[in-house]
Amino acid sequence: MVGGGEGSFIGNVHRMAARLDGAYELVAGAFSRDHDNCLQTGTDLGLEASRCYPGWEAMLACESVMDDDIRAECIAIVAPNDVHYPVAKAAVAKGFHIISDKPATLDLAEARKLENIIQDSGVLYGLTHTYLGYPMVAEARHKVATGSLGTVRKVYVEYHQGWLATAQETLGNKQAEWRNDPARAGQGGAIGDIGTHAFTLAEWITGQHVNALCAELNTHVEGRQVDDDAAALLRFDGGASGVLVCSQVCAGEENALKIRVYGEMGGLEWQQMEPNNLLLRPADAPSRILRAGVNQSLCELARSRCRTPGGHPEGYLEAFANLYRDFATAIRSGEKGTATNVPGIDMGKRGMKFIQRMIESENSAYQWTNFEDGGKEGASA
Ligand SMILES: NC(=O)c1ccc[n+]([C@@H]2O[C@H](COP(=O)([O-])OP(=O)(O)OC[C@H]3O[C@@H](n4cnc5c(N)ncnc54)[C@H](O)[C@@H]3O)[C@@H](O)[C@H]2O)c1
Repeated sequence: MVGGGEGSFIGNVHRMAARLDGAYELVAGAFSRDHDNCLQTGTDLGLEASRCYPGWEAMLACESVMDDDIRAECIAIVAPNDVHYPVAKAAVAKGFHIISDKPATLDLAEARKLENIIQDSGVLYGLTHTYLGYPMVAEARHKVATGSLGTVRKVYVEYHQGWLATAQETLGNKQAEWRNDPARAGQGGAIGDIGTHAFTLAEWITGQHVNALCAELNTHVEGRQVDDDAAALLRFDGGASGVLVCSQVCAGEENALKIRVYGEMGGLEWQQMEPNNLLLRPADAPSRILRAGVNQSLCELARSRCRTPGGHPEGYLEAFANLYRDFATAIRSGEKGTATNVPGIDMGKRGMKFIQRMIESENSAYQWTNFEDGGKEGASA
């Protein structure tokens, strides 16, 4: 593991998720740039001090030459965004599989390079867009793919948080500090931190790709260097239009991620704070709620991602663990590049493109912007 030292957030979530199915064992870590913190974190987790490394470079160098039965096989990258690409690049070169947190890299140029590197290697790369691991998200995707809604016409996706409604970055909040530093977080604020989740969820469920967007970015908190609030109109390649809203200054909100998709025959709705429910709205029948649970008549992927009988929440840790489990299955079965049902570098690159195009659109006085190549939509037609 790279990152995830004492006092950090997502590293421990990854460790819990990785343990849930017994498919992973934590064997080594460069948990922090502070070696005392790294040692403390690792030894508290039961690691030998010799495998709590002073830096990720030393960890990759030492682990790659160890005997096969003890060496690390897979590197989890859970440090701030600027660390993702250098670690991933070096890890691929040494033959490690990679599970990285999002966004994939610091910028689009790095994501392009990483995609090439992974394509030419024999390793697997997985990106923990957590929400894609929920069973009812799999069911939503299945409903769209099997035509329950007809052709998708309208997509609304929103992700609202309130924790950055005040200048937490000036008050000693470590998570807020690096997120407000473009050198460590990248150019995107809310659009990178949570907008990429919303964007990826919309593309995953609809099976359509965004091909143009028109964005507005705002920075509400004085002195902040990155956006903390944004919205965009979207056009999809399958003909749908959409709206994406992401904001970290909605005071009082927790993790209010919600998606609604409407086709010519009906709609569906999923909210991550009520993750067991998938609301279906057929045009010609009353609305109904499909529920998560191992005994329900859901699609195969959704059922495989339910861990408990109906009525018990299939939550955040379990969704994370589902991605970890599917990634382990892919390692065992010798898959290369992208693991089945786990977001890969292709989606990571699209997430980085999303951040860049949102900024380009804002900087061009809210013009419609081509998703693939940038520039004003239609200018090259
Ligand atoms: N998938 C999700 O839902 C989700 C949620 C939160 C964060 N994230 C992502 O996870 C990553 C970490 O976010 P966080 O909120 O846990 O940050 P954090 O600040 O809480 O933790 C970062 C950790 O990385 C360590 N670190 C920093 N530089 C390092 C280096 N060069 N080598 C080794 N360790 C280093 C820090 O010491 C710290 O322990 C980010 O990329 C973020 O976007 C994803």
